[in-house]
Amino acid sequence: MATITFPKDFRFGVSTASYQIEGAYDEDGRGMSIWDTYSRIPGRVLNGDNGDTACDSYHRMDEDIALLKELGVNTYRFSIAWPRIFPNGRGEVNQKGLDHYHQFVDKLIENGIEPLCTIYHWDLPQSLQDEGGWKNRQTIEAFVEYSDLLFREFSGKIKSWLTINEPWCVSFLGYFVGEQAPGEKDLQTSLDVAHHLLLAHGRAVKRFKELGIPGEIGFAPNVTWYEPFSNQPEDVEACKRISAWFMEWFLDPVFKGSYPQILVDWFAKKGAKVNIQEGDMEIISQPIDILGINFYTGNVSRYKEGNGTFDCEHLDGLFDKTDIGFTIYADAFYKVLVDIKNKYGDVPVYITENGATYNQDPVDGRVIDDKRIKYLKQHLTQISRALASGVNLKGYCVWSLMDNYEWSYGYSMRFGLVHVDYHTLKRTKKDSYFWYKKLNQNHWFEL
Ligand code: BGC
Repeated sequence: MATITFPKDFRFGVSTASYQIEGAYDEDGRGMSIWDTYSRIPGRVLNGDNGDTACDSYHRMDEDIALLKELGVNTYRFSIAWPRIFPNGRGEVNQKGLDHYHQFVDKLIENGIEPLCTIYHWDLPQSLQDEGGWKNRQTIEAFVEYSDLLFREFSGKIKSWLTINEPWCVSFLGYFVGEQAPGEKDLQTSLDVAHHLLLAHGRAVKRFKELGIPGEIGFAPNVTWYEPFSNQPEDVEACKRISAWFMEWFLDPVFKGSYPQILVDWFAKKGAKVNIQEGDMEIISQPIDILGINFYTGNVSRYKEGNGTFDCEHLDGLFDKTDIGFTIYADAFYKVLVDIKNKYGDVPVYITENGATYNQDPVDGRVIDDKRIKYLKQHLTQISRALASGVNLKGYCVWSLMDNYEWSYGYSMRFGLVHVDYHTLKRTKKDSYFWYKKLNQNHWFEL
């Protein structure tokens, strides 16, 4: 039996996001978001589920903080709902929204939990969407106004900031695959959106530095590891394309000030290109203090003519899957972290999301989620390997504190360490919660 140990100052935490847990969608002056709208379109979200109530966390601040406290995490990654702060996206500020997050952040700090705040986790104010949303360059200005307000308000309280969560999902799932809000399907539009998100990120980082806010700032892209089935050039190239789509498309501009050529060329063949204006790449490549990495899955892939946008197919049957269908490939976590270090240097990295869906309900008050514990152990082992290889890892957050609204899957997919009964809103600590609590106390676990 091996013991996996973590440095004493390594931060352990859990993550959530506003729309997925808060509910209270029409209270205290909150405006509508694109997810309120999108989830109401028949057929878009499984079972027509929406975030109107979600986990009701807006009203259960004390209960949720008590869960965090008992869990023993020293970091909580959460997001602020833009439509609670600016119900119309910009302009008039909703004081009640600010008050809510002040109260929440104060309580976290009182309980010894460091807030790690995501500024944008997908709930764009609907009124901005009505003007084109992220397709419209003006949305960048609104994002800077919103970020600026948060920086000033929470300066000294929130010391770790992430501008945008998973720009890949926002741009490509939202505007190309069409599986997330607002559900469009156009390659050119998705490239415009991705570029605007990167600009919004860069502008917010610049503002943060100009204001001299104490603390650290970065963003949280999702990365997926794909490796070629063979060393045939076709397989290698197909894999490079798909990997670049998930990773380099967002990391290269931020760290290198350019888009990956392999995809620029590929997209050109499809009649799409990035519309770069003078000075854009300098803004996007503002130095960041921290990099958030969201990692869930990886696979082995090969060339297949005409398959999808990238002429690439993923092999089926090589790996077990979680209930949501993500392949479990823990070694890929190590590989991707080392790859990021090699490509982008030694920026401090937080794992801002990692976790698994297993959909059990409590039996006699207990949720025996051994498979989740196994997943976490496997992935934390890779974290420890990456630390030993010199990857500058500072912390790790499990997705998620509790079961919540899983976007287009509605409430059907459970990622939590805590089970939520969506009828009674009762929280039940799963076995994985107790396992993670022990890890937080010890900073080691037995494999
Ligand atoms: C997102 C979360 C989501 C999780 C699990 C990430 O894509 O940031 O909001 O719930 O993965 O799918």
